[in-house]
Amino acid sequence: MPKLKIIVGTVYGGALDVAEQVSPVFEQAGYDVVIIEQPSVNDLIDEPPDLALFCVSTTGSGDFPGDFVPFVRQLKSQPPSLASLRYGLIALGDSSYGDTFCGSGRALDEILADLGAQRLGERLEIDAMETFMADDAALPWVESWIESQGLGT
Ligand SMILES: Cc1cc2nc3c(=O)[nH]c(=O)nc-3n(C[C@H](O)[C@H](O)[C@H](O)COP(=O)(O)O)c2cc1C
Repeated sequence: MPKLKIIVGTVYGGALDVAEQVSPVFEQAGYDVVIIEQPSVNDLIDEPPDLALFCVSTTGSGDFPGDFVPFVRQLKSQPPSLASLRYGLIALGDSSYGDTFCGSGRALDEILADLGAQRLGERLEIDAMETFMADDAALPWVESWIESQGLGT
């Protein structure tokens, strides 16, 4: 059974809620799913998943959630090759923050690309100004992501 790691960065739990809500959709598509809340680079290197989904919110002024910061620091200080990593990215933010909208998700996407990882499809950006429950945007996106990328097993 292929393995999916859903890697979460959250302050208030919204991104974790998204991870928990989409998890059964991947299980139905044939994945063994694990949700990781305080990730480390080892989660991607030691036991590399067949697929990763990052669910990250933005805090401060375009900043990573506190629990996610050590992971990003590790990616920068000991850059691993992520050439075999295929991933999707769901960014949670709020457009009332202007230029820093989804800043954390966008920055993570750039870091992953620089390390050679391959994003499948487009990044989903969920705007709290438009979508009260992030799941309402995430669930249909995941369903169509699995289908359009041929990720079902
Ligand atoms: C103190 C604070 C700062 C925030 N800063 C930003 C920001 O710079 N850019 C952005 O897009 N959203 C920002 N947000 C909005 C959150 O990213 C958004 O509400 C998100 O859904 C929270 O997800 P979480 O529950 O997983 O933490 C901020 C929210 C708070 C409370």
